Amino acid sequence: MKGAFWISFRLMAIASTISAALCATYSRSENIVGTGFYDSFNFEAITDPNHGRVNYVNKTTAMSQNLTFASANTFILRGDWKTVINDSSTTGRNSVRIRSNNAYTTHVAVFDIVHIPQGCGTWPAIWETNEANWPNGGEVDIVEGVNDQGNDQVTLHTVAGQALWMYDAYLTDTNGVRSTVVISGQLNCDTSVNGCGVNVGQASSFGPTFNADGGGWYAMERTNTFINVWFWSRKATIVPADVSAGGTTVNTSNWGTPVANFPNTTCNFPQFFDAHNIIINLNFCGDFAGQASVYASSGCPSTCKSYVDNNPAAFGNAYFWINSINIYQ
Ligand SMILES: *[C@@H]1O[C@H](CO)[C@@H](O)[C@H](O)[C@H]1NC(C)=O
Ligand SMILES: *[C@@H]1O[C@H](CO)[C@@H](O)[C@H](O)[C@H]1NC(C)=O
Ligand SMILES: *[C@@H]1O[C@H](CO)[C@@H](O)[C@H](O)[C@H]1NC(C)=O
Ligand SMILES: *[C@@H]1O[C@H](CO)[C@@H](O)[C@H](O)[C@H]1NC(C)=O
Ligand SMILES: *[C@@H]1O[C@H](CO)[C@@H](O)[C@H](O)[C@H]1NC(C)=O
Repeated sequence: MKGAFWISFRLMAIASTISAALCATYSRSENIVGTGFYDSFNFEAITDPNHGRVNYVNKTTAMSQNLTFASANTFILRGDWKTVINDSSTTGRNSVRIRSNNAYTTHVAVFDIVHIPQGCGTWPAIWETNEANWPNGGEVDIVEGVNDQGNDQVTLHTVAGQALWMYDAYLTDTNGVRSTVVISGQLNCDTSVNGCGVNVGQASSFGPTFNADGGGWYAMERTNTFINVWFWSRKATIVPADVSAGGTTVNTSNWGTPVANFPNTTCNFPQFFDAHNIIINLNFCGDFAGQASVYASSGCPSTCKSYVDNNPAAFGNAYFWINSINIYQ
């Protein structure tokens, strides 16, 4: 029964991807590079809503501790890698969470990334949401993972009780790699059941493998009828020319099959997804990386909190190095 439903929804999903491909050219509205990140994003020195062993600092502190650095064409964000934290302290390890000043409904965002934070206890994420109306306004996680484990997870979160989503996660991308759903058969994006996630098939999509390959490009296309995410490693055989060029226009019709496709089969996107800010943050431990079973199964030592507190030198590679973010509308 479940299988038959699954197959029919898969076919619908493919049909919606194909029809959506008919109108898919966009013009660049923002080219965020180097020091331009400081104009386009604000530092959020907030209490972590995800209960991490983290202390999100403001821009002044981040700059004085070199937790952020920018040149003409480089942008770095990192966690503290120098300080031992007292286990009794209520304040966790210094880190950063930045939010774009602009918010977007339908758009394409292309992230050209060289390095993402790695290490036991790390939980880096690049995502979109409206914090003031969460979860009612939806959430799209584009880059996310914990403790260096597994590949990238692309996840949608929606309000409870409204959104039973059907999507085709079993996609083979342009470079011949298949993605899979995180929880087989879970088609409900309700955030209280952890949303609906897709494990990106390529090992190079996250963590040390992503970094060793020189990173790559993530892209997200949000329309009123679907959300698609693509990933191309820096070493991929096929990278669309408009993506690698970072030019003034993109045509997503030429990008091939995405790694994750969420069609609007049973939910109205404009109703359940607000205009979203882009958020880039590095958390430590917390609701995902610090979950005892998740942390232990990652092969990480000690407990997450103790490890994060006592091993600053282990966070030397806990940094984002981002070449650019281009927004197309
Ligand atoms: C930034 O945070 C530091 C440490 O909490 C605080 O002393 C400083 O006043 C803050 N600066 C701004 C501009 O908010
Ligand atoms: C700050 O970080 C950047 C990027 O990692 C590095 O190039 C620079 O030398 C650092 N500055 C200081 C004062 O340590
Ligand atoms: C850690 O904090 C506790 C409680 O404030 C204090 O008693 C202890 O001396 C601190 N340890 C170190 C190494 O600073
Ligand atoms: C976008 O790509 C599609 C598929 O290759 C092509 O048919 C269409 O003409 C392109 N649109 C533009 C404006 O170049
Ligand atoms: C999905 O989008 C199509 C095309 O605009 C629309 O006809 C349909 O009603 C939408 N589905 C839902 C559940 O909102």
